[in-house]
Amino acid sequence: MHTTRRNFLKAGGLLAAGAATGLSVIPGELFAATPAETALPAGEGAFMLPPLGYAYAALEPHIDARTMEIHHTKHHQAYITKLNAAVEKEPSLKGKTLEQLLGNIKLTPEAVRSDIRNHGGGHWNHSFFWTIIGPVQGAVSEKLTAAITRDFGSMVLFKEQFEKKSVGVFGSGWGWLVKDAKGKLSIISTPNQDNPLMDIAEAAGRPILGIDVWEHAYYLNYQNRRADYLKAFWNVVNWQKVSELYES
Ligand SMILES: [Fe+2]
Repeated sequence: MHTTRRNFLKAGGLLAAGAATGLSVIPGELFAATPAETALPAGEGAFMLPPLGYAYAALEPHIDARTMEIHHTKHHQAYITKLNAAVEKEPSLKGKTLEQLLGNIKLTPEAVRSDIRNHGGGHWNHSFFWTIIGPVQGAVSEKLTAAITRDFGSMVLFKEQFEKKSVGVFGSGWGWLVKDAKGKLSIISTPNQDNPLMDIAEAAGRPILGIDVWEHAYYLNYQNRRADYLKAFWNVVNWQKVSELYES
């Protein structure tokens, strides 16, 4: 059995146990995993739903358990199912990693291009999102603090700008903090399930923080109050992970 599949199955059990007891379950090896590590390449059968690494109730009251469960098991799974169907239709895509697929949207055969863009993007974005939120926040590293201060003025000013950009996304999409090759930070947004890894993205850079502002991410708890969801988001950001991504 493939290691990733073994971890997935193991984590599924831990996650179920955590959800049943209401306890937070944070298996270290899984919590540290990146989207690229948790997703199987298409050539090995299919992309799979990565575990959260914590219980659905672990982010309450900021993000409620029902939202987390539906978001993870229904919405995220649906992107994966449709991504796998698109890869299955186009033999030239089999065996490619998720990042290879997203980095070559322009060259993707037209028949499946929008499916790869929307559902491949949806899979990457959600896999990433689960890792940069969590019940343990950790600290912002000195290097990341210095970069935020340099590029935005202060942490307070950064949060204001990030909230403004993300609240302002028209319709559905994502807000991102990205780092370019020189370590400079920028705040950008993308529509739908687009992300900065795609070769169609306006701004290149590696995401180190992101927020899902689709209504499915917050509507049960916040209804139309996206700004309140943004404020609550800061209570569940895993700054240790974001700092690691900045310094990697
Ligand atoms: Fe979502």
